[in-house]
Amino acid sequence: MANENTMKEIIALLKHRGFVYPSSEIYGGFGASYDYGPLGCEMINNIKQLWKQDIIREHSQVVETDGAIILNPKTWEASGHLGSGFADSLVECRQCHHRFKTEEVVKSICPDCGGQTTEPRDYNLMMKTFIGPVEDTHNQAYLRPETCQSIFLDFRLVLDSMRMKLPFGIAQIGKSFRNEINPKNFLYRQREFEQMEMEWFTPADEADKWFEYWKERRWNWYLSLGMKKENLRFREVPKEELAHYAKRAVDVDYHFPFGWHEIEGIHNRGDFDLRNHSEHSGRDLSYKNTDQSESYYPHVIETSAGVGRLMLAFICDAYHKIEGGRDSESKREEEIILQLSPKLAPIQVAVFPLMKKPELISLAQNVFQNLSGSLRCQYDETGSIGKRYRRQDEIGTPLAVTIDFDSLTQNDVTIRDRVSMKQVRVKYDSLVEEIKRMLLGGFKNNEN
Ligand code: GAP
Repeated sequence: MANENTMKEIIALLKHRGFVYPSSEIYGGFGASYDYGPLGCEMINNIKQLWKQDIIREHSQVVETDGAIILNPKTWEASGHLGSGFADSLVECRQCHHRFKTEEVVKSICPDCGGQTTEPRDYNLMMKTFIGPVEDTHNQAYLRPETCQSIFLDFRLVLDSMRMKLPFGIAQIGKSFRNEINPKNFLYRQREFEQMEMEWFTPADEADKWFEYWKERRWNWYLSLGMKKENLRFREVPKEELAHYAKRAVDVDYHFPFGWHEIEGIHNRGDFDLRNHSEHSGRDLSYKNTDQSESYYPHVIETSAGVGRLMLAFICDAYHKIEGGRDSESKREEEIILQLSPKLAPIQVAVFPLMKKPELISLAQNVFQNLSGSLRCQYDETGSIGKRYRRQDEIGTPLAVTIDFDSLTQNDVTIRDRVSMKQVRVKYDSLVEEIKRMLLGGFKNNEN
C-alpha cells in the first residue's frame, strides 16, 4: 500500500537506477527540471511509441506533424493564451516571499511561514523569450505552452497536401513550457515537459460521438498497458473549471500516492481554434464538402497527455515493496519490484553468465547479440546472481536469461520470470520465439 514515504522511495529508486535525475544537479538543481537517464529514455520512448501505435498507426485517418516550439507570437493572441485564459491567480507571502496559487492559501496565511500574503494578482504562465539581439517588446516571443497550436496553424496545409477528408486527426509529440508558480510532485508538474496531443477534426454534429469514442479508446490504452482499473477514473470537469477553449472536458485521473490527479485531458474544443486563427490571420481555415456546397469550421476533439506524468503514473502503479523479501534467501531484506508491462519496461530481457568464467561470458555475450536484434536487452556480469535478479526486478525487467555450465553442453539456458520467480530451461534454437511468447502472454500485474 502506498503511504507518505512511497513517493520518496520511488524518486530515490528512479535516481539510483538511472531513470530520472534532478537536472543540473551539480549546481543544486534548477526549478523542478528533470533529466531522463538511460532507463528513463527507454521508458519514455516506449510510452511515445505505444501512443503513436494506438493513435496514429491504428487509425488510417490520423497523421503526424512536428511543429516549431516558438511560433509567431500572434498565435497566442488568437488562441487566447495571452489573455486571462492562461493566467493563474498568484499571492506572495510578505514575510518569506514564497509565492502560491491563490487557491492554495487559506485566509491569506502563508502555508510555509504563517505570514500574511498579498492580494491576488494574475500571472501569465507562458515562458517569454526574445528573437534576435534586441530585447524589446517587438521581438518578444513565447515558448509554446501546449503543442496543439501548430496543428491548428497547419490545418489547411495538412488538409491539402495529404488530401484529408473529415473526420481526421493530426497528432503531435513535443515539448511544452509553462512557468508554473509552484511545480510539485516530481515529474507530475514541471515547467518543461513533453506532451502527446491529437486533434480530431469532425463535423459539429458528430463531435459528441467522437468524444465518446476517444474517451473510451484512451481508457482502454491505459488498461492494455497493465494500469490497474481501480487506480483510474474519469472526471467530468465542471463548467467553472473549463479551460478558455473548451466546451466540455473529461480528465483521466490516476490515483497517485499523493492523491487523485489528472494524467490526460479529453476536450471538446468546438470550433474555437480554427475560427479564431482564421479571423486573426485572415486565412481561410474552413472546410468545404466534397461537392463544395457547404463550408464550415470543423469542431475539434482533443486528447492530451504529458509523457512524464504518464511515466510517473505507470511507475507508481507498478511499484511493489515486499518487506522480508519473497524467498528464504532474501529473508529480512526488503524487495522492490516494478511490475511494469513488458511493453513499457525499459529492458525486456536481462542476460547473465552465472559466473565470471570466460566460457560462460562468451556464450552469454552471444546470446545477448542474438536477442538484442529484436528485444531490449541488458547484459550484466557483476555481483552475485541473486543481486543481479534483484536489480532487474527493481527496474521492471520481466525476464532474465542465465547461462550456466549445463548450457555449454546442453545448448540451453534458464529463463527466470520476474513475477513468479519460476525458472524454465529453453533450447537456444527456440529462445527468441519462447521469450516473445512469454513477454506477450505471461504478463500479469499482481504481486505473486
Ligand atoms: N492542449 C490541451 C492542454 O494542454 P492541459 O490539461 O493543460 O491541456 C494536458 O494539459 C496534459 O498535459 C495534462 O493532462 C498533463 O498530462 C500534461 N501537463 C500539463 N501541464 C503539465 C506540467 N506542468 N507538467 C507535466 N505535465 C503537464
